[in-house]
Amino acid sequence: MERIQKLYAELENCNIDCPLNSTSPIVKGYCPGKVNIAFVGEAPGAKEAKLGTPFIGTAGSNFSEFLNYLNLNRDEVFITNTVKCRPTVNYLGEKNRAPKTSEISACFYYLEKELDIINPEVIVTLGNIPLRQLSGDKKASISNYHGKMFSYKKSKVFPTYHPGALTYNPGLKDIIKGDLDLLKKLIIQ
Ligand code: URA
Repeated sequence: MERIQKLYAELENCNIDCPLNSTSPIVKGYCPGKVNIAFVGEAPGAKEAKLGTPFIGTAGSNFSEFLNYLNLNRDEVFITNTVKCRPTVNYLGEKNRAPKTSEISACFYYLEKELDIINPEVIVTLGNIPLRQLSGDKKASISNYHGKMFSYKKSKVFPTYHPGALTYNPGLKDIIKGDLDLLKKLIIQ
């Protein structure tokens, strides 16, 4: 995975015109090697920014449950975020916020290249942010799109809820299980 290492060397010195790269550490994707499935989240939270790995905080423990349910472990999947820096209220603040459209567009340079290099059979988008970016439908809502596949370049995209959503809306559990059952069938074909 020399190409991804090269891309991440570039990312570490990111000089894209975006206020986030000077106010937050950069969180690269987790790439165990050539894999067939990629998960794309929104943006790192505090723990991810501190330790430099995606999905290791509270949303990360729900994410691990998704993987367990799919009988997968982290070394079998590529994990990244739409935005590689942690967006906070007032930039250097402590409170997370959703990434802005301008930040998502600026960082797409990296996401597009990551996905081109990995070229996974299936990309699982987690929540609205990666769904909107990869579908091109800027008003897409996960409540309408979840479980409905579409294509992105040569990959199939499978949208589901963000694992963090389970924390504030435990009622989503059965809906997410239904999505993961569909996804299981897709990835073991
Ligand atoms: N939420 C995300 O979307 N990504 C992370 O890495 C952590 C929380």
